[in-house]
Amino acid sequence: MSSEPALNRRFGPRLAVVGLESTRAFPAEPGYTAHESAFIDQDVEIGDGTSIWHVSHVMQGSRIGRDCRIGQNVVIGPRATVGNGVKIQNNVSVYEGVTLEDGVFCGPSMVFTNVFNPRSEIPRMDELRPTLVKRGATLGANCTIVCGTTIGRYALVGAGAVVTKDVPDHALVFGSPATIQGWVCSCGEKLDWQGHTAVCRCGNGYTKNGSTVSPTDRASSKQVKSMNVPLLDLKAQYDPIRKQVLAAVERVLDSHAFILGPAVKEFEDRIASYCGVEHAVGVSSGSDALLVSLMALGIGPGDEVITTPYSFFATAGCIARVGAKAVFVDIDPVTYNINPELIEAAITSRTRAILPVHLYGQCAEMGPILDIASRHDLAVVEDAAQAIGAQYRDGRQAGGMGTLGCFSFFPSKNLGGLGDGGLVVTGDAELAERVRTLRAHGGKPKYYHKLIGGNFRLDAIQAAVLNVKLDYLDGWTAMRQANARRYAELFAASGLSESLGLVLPEAVHAESGVARYHIYNQFVVRLPDRDRVQASLGESGIATALYYPVPFHLQECFAELGYREGDFPEAERAARETLALPIYPELSEQQQQAVVEALGRLGD
Ligand SMILES: Cc1ncc(COP(=O)(O)O)c(C=O)c1O
Repeated sequence: MSSEPALNRRFGPRLAVVGLESTRAFPAEPGYTAHESAFIDQDVEIGDGTSIWHVSHVMQGSRIGRDCRIGQNVVIGPRATVGNGVKIQNNVSVYEGVTLEDGVFCGPSMVFTNVFNPRSEIPRMDELRPTLVKRGATLGANCTIVCGTTIGRYALVGAGAVVTKDVPDHALVFGSPATIQGWVCSCGEKLDWQGHTAVCRCGNGYTKNGSTVSPTDRASSKQVKSMNVPLLDLKAQYDPIRKQVLAAVERVLDSHAFILGPAVKEFEDRIASYCGVEHAVGVSSGSDALLVSLMALGIGPGDEVITTPYSFFATAGCIARVGAKAVFVDIDPVTYNINPELIEAAITSRTRAILPVHLYGQCAEMGPILDIASRHDLAVVEDAAQAIGAQYRDGRQAGGMGTLGCFSFFPSKNLGGLGDGGLVVTGDAELAERVRTLRAHGGKPKYYHKLIGGNFRLDAIQAAVLNVKLDYLDGWTAMRQANARRYAELFAASGLSESLGLVLPEAVHAESGVARYHIYNQFVVRLPDRDRVQASLGESGIATALYYPVPFHLQECFAELGYREGDFPEAERAARETLALPIYPELSEQQQQAVVEALGRLGD
């Protein structure tokens, strides 16, 4: 039996907590959720998006802000005030007289008091001493906050501490009675002082004046010594749209239309129109989009498909999976995409299709590729897994130019789901119908099979989430492009091209004339000494990745194709020299500076 708790959505009075600012940029879904065992008194206000767990009690006159998480066995009130985005762990009582501002964290079993010298035999409820916990402060597990104290903004009270007097902003206190042991950044890291100033690893700067610590402007680039920069920060993307995503998922759950259904249809229609094609068929992944496209074209044993040796494995894997032979053609050293000038020489009487990849988010040279295909009567299957939204030089959309176009919604893609997902687009109604039939085992009508397909359906929950995210896609892409331009400026100023032989993606500088010539699913630079650089960036906390370290023709599983080292020199050089740097939309200027500076230290 499932142990998932029953959370009921309740629609309390909508709340604007006076004096506490909102932490969310998007309109809230109405209502909060409370476990069925929770007690909610009359005359309380609870903000949208707040969840209240088992056997907790919100007492009369209390006000709780938006997006709070109230754990199990928590008592709030009477007449307590809790701001927005507050997290209260299990077994905490927030009594009358206690005010928690936005973003406060109360660790498990920590204790507030509200009467200083309680006696059972003497009523003292008119002697309450107020306690104020200011924005962003953290109260560690099992600590006690004696009433009448104020805990400063972003202060950190250690586990088990007993706080008997006011705690200044950003102070780190622990012990009993708690004393100041240091200072912490709003991100929670302990600050390391150089005289009266400190710069956190996250880039925040502080000054100290006596026992007052206050934030200064964000640290200047020179102050940032090292900073952790992830390759991708999916949480930063998810947080602002969390409510919309959860609401979309909830709609699917409520509808019980889990397989295909309206969410998938809506997504297909929207992607078809986004790509300027008639038909779109949602499938289970980008890999399956490629596979099912080749199946729909009837490609199989004895056939050849021309493709690049330098891509994600699925590009070549799908050809082998239908029993056809992959024929590789070297790449262009500037774009890393298949070199169209070399394609014609690879065509034989068995060639059935060309499978170009729009690598890293930049279209392959589709003009010449489509010309060659039409002259030789070949299908073109675009692997646009990394390129949703990208435009070719003439403004046409990636995926919408060939016979079929394949997309992936793997979470790291510009349009990423909550798991695997993919889609095929085509202007050919017959092919669309074949893909549709093949994605459900090839039965048409159901249980009558002329074709052998598989279970390649796009999940309804993924489609619902992707429908939400599609609204943001072009905005996120524009942010990636802005980051690419900023790298170009920072690198130009750094002189690293000379000292490290660093080569940026060409399109950063290209006057392409179309808005989304490169959508920067990856920002890949070339460095002759790539492996040493990657190791040392890793030591500086800068995450990078290799896309891809071994070209297909040198993969063990393709040994029987008979290729050797040296057959595709540009693909081999790219596999040795390229490195993907962080480029995700929410990447900050300071993080980019940190990347460039970390590289600069290598160039010294
Ligand atoms: C170029 C390329 N082709 C195909 C795929 C396969 O997509 P999926 O991971 O959704 O199966 C990917 C995914 O990383 C890819 O980058």
